[in-house]
Amino acid sequence: MDYDADLPAHVERVLARFLRTAGERIRELEPTFGEGLDALSGFVLGGGKRLRPSFAWWGWRGAGGDPGDAEGVLHAVASLELIQACALIHDDLIDSSDSRRGSPTVHVAFAKEHADHGWLGLPSTFGQAAAVLIGDLALAWADDMFADAPLPPATLASARPAWRAIRTEVLAGQYLDVHTQVTGDSSIDAALRIDRLKTAAYTVQRPLHLGAALAGASEELIGTLLEFGGDLGVAFQLRDDLLGVFGDPSVTGKPAGDDLREGKRTLLVALGLEHAAKRGNAAAAGLIEAAIGAPSLTESEVDDVRAALTEVGAVDAVERRIEELTAASLAALERAHLAEPATAELTALAAKATKRTY
Ligand code: IPE
Ligand code: MG
Ligand code: MG
Repeated sequence: MDYDADLPAHVERVLARFLRTAGERIRELEPTFGEGLDALSGFVLGGGKRLRPSFAWWGWRGAGGDPGDAEGVLHAVASLELIQACALIHDDLIDSSDSRRGSPTVHVAFAKEHADHGWLGLPSTFGQAAAVLIGDLALAWADDMFADAPLPPATLASARPAWRAIRTEVLAGQYLDVHTQVTGDSSIDAALRIDRLKTAAYTVQRPLHLGAALAGASEELIGTLLEFGGDLGVAFQLRDDLLGVFGDPSVTGKPAGDDLREGKRTLLVALGLEHAAKRGNAAAAGLIEAAIGAPSLTESEVDDVRAALTEVGAVDAVERRIEELTAASLAALERAHLAEPATAELTALAAKATKRTY
């Protein structure tokens, strides 16, 4: 089997098998929860870039992992998609997002189910409860899937520190994210701290760490990979920030301008406000500030904010940072001297993560 060439398909294969087996057990226990399972399976298997398993896989390959461990490693790294399912299902609830990957979010789908049946109580309350529980199930199953990966116990144990860190760091980043939304902290520093925790650590650094640790990598190599992943991860988030305001909804699967409506204090927004202040452009600053956290922002108001962010130079500044961070990350990758084709694959992943349109 050529794992390298068809990695996403292999990740989906082991996830589908895991979900089927775990699902059968839970259906026997309580058939009513079958709906929850179907929602989780649909979510996990219905799309996604499989970025975290890919970074972990290439961390493992690059650090010279034993080819005999390949199927077990695949199992371990695929479990990251279940952490991601939890993170996204809960994130959509936290952010009151209606759609994800072009479909209704889990809390919205279950609220609709409630309304369609004319059940008792509020549809939104049931939707929220279902999303909390299905997200929890995903996180619990992530642990099960990782712990049950068919690998020698010592190999699996070496990846535990990365596994522990990834879950704590993403939660800290998510908390900081919602915290800055309510305090209105628009500093560049806060935006970058969120990006480091919520995206860089979670999406790139810890997956690479996890994979490299499974291959028995030295602390030095892990350190260099963390450098690569830190800069690349922030660049990835900055692309996300731009897409959150400028992206094409038919490609991203998420409504454009939702980052603004949600009140997200991104680096794009922080730079927009800073540049507007420096240029004495009070009109642009006022437009941007008024848009952040305004749930009923219209499409044409989003257009005005786009124009303001562009005019004050925030868009160019973010693009420049993406370029600088990507270049710095690739320099660290060179220093890692990974086994080929890992350097080439990680370079391609870096391009995909920072130049994407979705
Ligand atoms: C993404 O957070 C979720 C995680 C880090 C887990 P955001 O709220 O910033 O991103 P989208 O736009 O909803 O995907
Ligand atoms: Mg969100
Ligand atoms: Mg969020």
